[in-house]
Amino acid sequence: MVKKKIIFASNNAHKLNEINALLSNNFEVVGLKDVNYTTEIIESGNTFHENSFIKTSAIVDFLNSFCFSDDSGLEVECLNGQPGVYSARFAGEKASDYDNINLLLQKMANETNRNAQFKTVICLYFNNKYHYFEGFVKGQIAMESRGVNGFGYDPVFIPEGFENTFAELGAEIKNKISHRAMAIQKLVKFLNEND
Ligand code: IMP
Repeated sequence: MVKKKIIFASNNAHKLNEINALLSNNFEVVGLKDVNYTTEIIESGNTFHENSFIKTSAIVDFLNSFCFSDDSGLEVECLNGQPGVYSARFAGEKASDYDNINLLLQKMANETNRNAQFKTVICLYFNNKYHYFEGFVKGQIAMESRGVNGFGYDPVFIPEGFENTFAELGAEIKNKISHRAMAIQKLVKFLNEND
């Protein structure tokens, strides 16, 4: 069977791997580098919805092709939903995952409410229309960084029902329960019903 190509509007290799693992039965997923899209996309929106639309519509303007993007982040209850859309640049524009995690742990040093969730919004361009799919996973912020797998805040996020962080649990478990997996399941269901 020849798989239909779908463009995933991201240069984040970790995300691309996750998306590939989740979609590879149904589609051949290609990233921005594969379609020679090199322009930086400025995520200037105030919500995950707005940012996912900005990314997807940039590719539509460029190629007018079947594509999707996700915008995702961590929402922490005691920080009123921060870092949210600023997750990637919580500790500054060029902050590393390590810097962002340190700032988060520092801000929460005396907090007993460790509730948080990861959220993803996928924006799909299909048959000349934009469609949105959401996914989230609830959990707790650990007291310290643990584990080496994954990316971003994975070393400090303990999903509900587990005692280990995403970075300790690894890709196989994460890809079954993550915010991105939940949103992708909805995307696949939609495409199976409409493609
Ligand atoms: P985006 O690429 O604009 O969606 O930014 C997402 C940011 O949110 C990433 O740079 C990470 O800091 C964080 N993030 C999103 N999804 C995950 C995840 O699955 N694990 C850990 N951090 C994540």
